[in-house]
Amino acid sequence: MKGIILAGGRGTRLFPLTTAVSKQLLPVYDKPMVYYPLSMLMLAGIRDILVISSPDALPQFRSLLCDGSQWGLRFAYAAQAEPRGLADAFLVGRDFIADEPVCLILGDNIFFGHGLPNQLRRAAQLTEGATIFAYPVRDPQRYGVVEFDETGRALSIEEKPKHPRSNYAVPGIYFYDQQVVGIAAGLQPSARNEIEITDVNNVYLSRGQLSVEALGRGVAWLDAGTHETLLQAGGFIQAVQDRQGMMISCPEEIAYRLGYIDADEVRRQALVINNQYGEYLLLLLKENLPFHRGVA
Ligand code: DAU
Repeated sequence: MKGIILAGGRGTRLFPLTTAVSKQLLPVYDKPMVYYPLSMLMLAGIRDILVISSPDALPQFRSLLCDGSQWGLRFAYAAQAEPRGLADAFLVGRDFIADEPVCLILGDNIFFGHGLPNQLRRAAQLTEGATIFAYPVRDPQRYGVVEFDETGRALSIEEKPKHPRSNYAVPGIYFYDQQVVGIAAGLQPSARNEIEITDVNNVYLSRGQLSVEALGRGVAWLDAGTHETLLQAGGFIQAVQDRQGMMISCPEEIAYRLGYIDADEVRRQALVINNQYGEYLLLLLKENLPFHRGVA
């Protein structure tokens, strides 16, 4: 399975923070925001990753993430000229996807929680249809909202409904089979003039090929798209990391634990990070922790 991180958009809700810097490069405590969704793709076992951003911001992503080999990954980059909608990721990424299944993750979505790596790895085994997730929120009208029947089967998905039929929002991580490019190409722009991911999901739903999995309350899903939520996300990461002494969404650590890079490579990278981040990487090499501790 391939992966796409969609990290474009104008970030207008975060102006002036994002006047000159891409939102997905802003700090969430001790890491650039894009490290968090990137780590989710890594935990799902995905190594071929396309980063999509605006033409202005793309060089900044390249200089941060390079070609991915430092973490045992392969990064490709593509520009999205205008924010034409989330489903546009499949049109911009058409050649990269090349008829394979693909996972799309939004560059400003942060996930953390028990059981999540296993759930992502299972979803990444998908060969047919689509898997999306549902997560209870207080303010569902800000999101795609999924309605279930009594048996837990999805009945409808609506984008930012004024009167939500449930409090289950659809988080910004989606797994699709190779039909997705054709589906995206057939969509009409919505009232806000975007091709909507919710319309993609509704096509799969109408074909009887959509699986909606609950993300339990033991999982944290944060979006960092406003001043308040950006600060909250940073505070959350700091509090959990400080308490556990383990980092959340540290690509170097995940690459090491997955066996993509060896101890020498971790040491080399740690030595140029002259702070607690680098010290943490050096500590990892001493502790030899089993994989299930401290991932995600
Ligand atoms: O966060 C999950 C939600 O994301 C879903 O529940 C909704 O169904 C989905 O439509 C989306 O809603 P948002 O209103 O949060 O989407 P937004 O337009 O803010 O875009 C999400 C991110 O993707 C944002 O960081 C900017 C980036 N983006 C957006 C568009 C429309 C792009 O890179 N390119 C685009 O064309």
